[in-house]
Amino acid sequence: MPEPCAYFRGEYMNPKDARIGIMTHAFHYGTATFGGINATWDDEQQQFCLFRIKEHYCRQLNACKMLQIRLPYTADDMTNITVEAVRRTGFRQNVYCRPVAYKSSEFIGVKLHDLEDDWLMIATTLPPFSSPGGLRCCTSSWTRIGDNQIPTHGKINGGYVNGALAKTEAQQAGFDDGIMLTTDGHVSEGAVTNTFVVLKGVLVTPPPCDSILLGITRDTVMRLARNELGMETLERSIVRSELYEADEVFFTGTYAGVVPIVEIDHRPVGTGSPGSLTSNLQDMYRQLALGRNPRYSDWYTILRPD
Ligand SMILES: Cc1ncc(COP(=O)(O)O)c(C=O)c1O
Repeated sequence: MPEPCAYFRGEYMNPKDARIGIMTHAFHYGTATFGGINATWDDEQQQFCLFRIKEHYCRQLNACKMLQIRLPYTADDMTNITVEAVRRTGFRQNVYCRPVAYKSSEFIGVKLHDLEDDWLMIATTLPPFSSPGGLRCCTSSWTRIGDNQIPTHGKINGGYVNGALAKTEAQQAGFDDGIMLTTDGHVSEGAVTNTFVVLKGVLVTPPPCDSILLGITRDTVMRLARNELGMETLERSIVRSELYEADEVFFTGTYAGVVPIVEIDHRPVGTGSPGSLTSNLQDMYRQLALGRNPRYSDWYTILRPD
């Protein structure tokens, strides 16, 4: 029977058998950084594609620097462990990989230094992301945390309380998700997704200084727009009015892919249906995630299970 597989304290095991103590520092203070990597199953080719996995681990190692987490692993080691864990699951469907680097000392006290660190990885399945017809969003009443509060370029566990508040507020009010604004009122991002808008034919996305995570899907979409459509993406601050003026708005993220937003704050985005540029980028991205476009083979780590 296929089952999830964790890499924990140097061994592969069922995640149910991997336990951390209740005194663990990261559990108390959110002093950890996580990742989210897809191993996308291609039924036709009977193989997994782990998309831009090395970039995911380089980003996680940068976040480790921010939290003074020191690991005995390189991005290549982490990649190899992840591929092996996916292989060991025995799944023949999409697998989601969740690495966590964390302050593992069983210690009470708010700090980052002079603590032990560890890294674990879980390969499991998730329900497929679904947004039939596109997302209905609101602008969140929760301000996006600033980079000088909790660094937003790292996926820092404690910082995700911010996104959780926004997502729950949105869903409990009947929306699918919330778009957070910075303290200056600039459009930032969703709980786990970057934002793009199409304004008068120009593709625009918030810059690195507007409290965003530098998403790997965001970068992929910018490269696809340039290479495949000859379209440069403008990285500049976006104000709330522009969400209402835009012809198209979409989110990007590893789990969600490219997702159209069709309504914001009860106002239709463009015609109120997914726009053509969004749909085009969504289709191209799906092919890439499956490892099917040979022009981007550098981004694929292929696993053919025995
Ligand atoms: C806050 C935040 N923004 C954006 C993203 C999208 O990043 P990526 O495309 O690398 O998955 C994520 C992913 O989890 C995220 O947590």
